[in-house]
Amino acid sequence: MPQRPYIVGNWKMHGTRAMLSEARAIDRAAQRLMKVEVAIAPPYTLIHPIHREAEQIAVGAQDCHEKEGGAHTGDISASMVADAGGKFVILGHSERRQDHREGNPLIRAKAESALAVGLRVIMCCGESEETRDAGDAVAFVTKQLKASLPPEIENPTELLAVAYEPVWAIGTGKTAQPSDIEEMHAAIRALLIKLYGEEHGEEVRILYGGSVKPENAAEIFAASNVGGALVGGASLTADSFMGIALAA
Ligand code: G3P
Repeated sequence: MPQRPYIVGNWKMHGTRAMLSEARAIDRAAQRLMKVEVAIAPPYTLIHPIHREAEQIAVGAQDCHEKEGGAHTGDISASMVADAGGKFVILGHSERRQDHREGNPLIRAKAESALAVGLRVIMCCGESEETRDAGDAVAFVTKQLKASLPPEIENPTELLAVAYEPVWAIGTGKTAQPSDIEEMHAAIRALLIKLYGEEHGEEVRILYGGSVKPENAAEIFAASNVGGALVGGASLTADSFMGIALAA
């Protein structure tokens, strides 16, 4: 049974309590859109306030530490995310890979830590513009993803989603061509089947991310193997975010 489209808002470092009204509006709209699974990843500080009020949407984190506790000033563990009401964590985002020099082994360790406390992992992957121009995008992304994903996951269908986000499409207004998205998502699908077997590999949702807006969402969702979207800028207002969810 195919899963519902999964539309996830990544608020990045945007959002104070003033944004709670937007989260409420997203939650209300999601209650009228039961065929789509809607979630938001606000900054850590808003996870619990949104969780307390939300009736329909899930809330999650944009990162977590790979360890469960200890002397790690400023870090947040996976179980703290879960304790605050978080249901998932975004890992391996290109902004973490670049700004915090996160490599594949660390990202895999974070994923294992998140899965151990029952959080769903949204694992990001994506190539730079230079890699795409060199014709190496598919090889690069499949290698990156294989090295970032835990080799064993108890129930990947439920506990894993993959987000393909070409780095050059993030926050730039440029989106990948549907044919390029299809090619990449097919390669990711093949990898998921190889790693987790046919049954789960076919079901894990593969999201596209990178300048998704209400205006281009329908075309992106029509591409094969697109199971939803990871949305940055356009997830900050209920109107544009739910415009995307509606297109799914
Ligand atoms: O994780 C979402 C993301 O990186 C895409 O951001 O602003 O291009 O939708 P944006």
